[in-house]
Amino acid sequence: MSVMNPELKKITIKDAAEQLNVSAVSIHNWIKDGSLQTTNNILTQKNIDDFRDNFLNSKKLSSRANKQYKDLHNHKSLSEEIKKDLRTSMSGDDISSKYESSLSESYKNKEGIYYTPQHIVEDMLKSIDETEGKLFLDPCCGSGNFIIEAIKKGISPKNIYGFDTDENAVAITKKRIKEISGYDSKNIICADFLNQKPKAKSQRFDYIFTNPPWGKKLKRNERERFSLIYDAGNSIDTSSLFYFASLKVLKENGKIGMLLPDSFFNITSFEDARKSLMTLQIDRFVDYGNAFKGLMTKAMAFVANSQQSTVNSQQMISCEIYNVKKHLRSQNSFSDIPKCIFNFHIEEKENDIIRAVFSMPHISLKDNAKWGLGVITGNNEKLCRKERAEGLVPIYRGKDILKNDLAAPSLYIDENLEGSRQVADMDLYKAPEKVIYRFISNKIVCFYDTEQRYILNSANLFVLNEDFPVTYSQLVDLLNSDFMNWLFRSIFNTHKVLRSDLESLPIFHEYFRKYETFSEETLRKYLQINA
Ligand SMILES: C[S@@+](CC[C@H](N)C(=O)[O-])C[C@H]1O[C@@H](n2cnc3c(N)ncnc32)[C@H](O)[C@@H]1O
Repeated sequence: MSVMNPELKKITIKDAAEQLNVSAVSIHNWIKDGSLQTTNNILTQKNIDDFRDNFLNSKKLSSRANKQYKDLHNHKSLSEEIKKDLRTSMSGDDISSKYESSLSESYKNKEGIYYTPQHIVEDMLKSIDETEGKLFLDPCCGSGNFIIEAIKKGISPKNIYGFDTDENAVAITKKRIKEISGYDSKNIICADFLNQKPKAKSQRFDYIFTNPPWGKKLKRNERERFSLIYDAGNSIDTSSLFYFASLKVLKENGKIGMLLPDSFFNITSFEDARKSLMTLQIDRFVDYGNAFKGLMTKAMAFVANSQQSTVNSQQMISCEIYNVKKHLRSQNSFSDIPKCIFNFHIEEKENDIIRAVFSMPHISLKDNAKWGLGVITGNNEKLCRKERAEGLVPIYRGKDILKNDLAAPSLYIDENLEGSRQVADMDLYKAPEKVIYRFISNKIVCFYDTEQRYILNSANLFVLNEDFPVTYSQLVDLLNSDFMNWLFRSIFNTHKVLRSDLESLPIFHEYFRKYETFSEETLRKYLQINA
């Protein structure tokens, strides 16, 4: 009887994709470009192992494939190793660290697996004082950091509940609970919290604290279904879906705390979540800065009480930059900031200026302009030349746009933008008058263009409607001003100049009736700002 060498066993594309933790398309591509060799047109385990072992020395792979591969781990074998570790005397804490550090960045990113550092967990749970008989939930508990801290604070392990879709994480959490309390928990469940059956949702919790997956990819129809189930409106990022789903199981007078990406606090798509949060009593906002290695996004938290905010409209919120400073802001002071942005870095006094200037007569760019993006060539190196030649015209990058000025052209492109991947309506580039502005920037830098210039996608543009009551030069002076930049920073605190942010800014058209030309001084006088 011949026994087949297991190495030569046929592996399906699906299996290969799973082992290498990439999409099936990547496997197809690697087979097609020869990076992943097959044996007589059959993909075997040996082919996969060879690919994994030899890959880093291989010169054949494209740099993209290379980058992709460096970012892989073998999830199946890691899971097996973790299962073995769980049966040894290795501590749950150590297994947790080992597991998290063995996951590749791309996997962590895709699944939203960034476990919360201990100092943040402690800080977020510090307001938990009553523990007797209280029920605690982490709806996506990972390896149990919040849960273990809740036990340390005195909550009974039998009153602690957790969900996670990752069975390794669930097993680690259970081991840690057992180690710290001796309790064999049945309440830590491997399941999708967003997809809980109605019966499971009938339980209510006194405390819900977590760091949910941020920006995890869900199918569009799934996101829409969750939005309906949880009344999440347009806030359908996984982080806000977890917020809305948690609210449904929070007791009256319960406490909820979440660690979230900074976008939750200032980006339009989270506006519905912020509006919902404003109906609770918010206790704290905390900026923890760049809390996760390898993640650019800042981590920020809120802690709130489910009691309706109308019960106490004078509620003060502790606004904190972790370990740096804190001040108090009334919850009311956030209510008339555009898009309900939580600009909690700003002190109440400065915020009063924002509210006061928004109460002055103003118009905005919303519905008063046509907007266009800069050109995406798809290959700047090929399509943008450093020297002018026949048939080429200048094209400007965001950094070439200066306050009311433009750097000398240093890039040139085909005058018909031939070959470019994405181009706005040509009428917008060719408009007799337009405003061009930097896109990647923490301040507004714009220029009034009357020469139909082209811009690359680090810049954007808008063309005013004909009846806009402020001239282009006046508008550009205003937008470039120190005052408007202070306003922009104080509200949006961002590194991108988004159309929707520009559309929310007040344009003081009456000021230009009084003072035809702009100056910082007369603007401050008009707005009655003394400081
Ligand atoms: C950012 S981690 C945080 C884990 C833990 N709460 C902490 O703070 O350390 C998010 C966790 O959500 C889990 N997760 C992702 N989607 C989930 C879902 N639909 N239901 C339950 N857990 C989920 C991931 O497996 C991951 O462990």
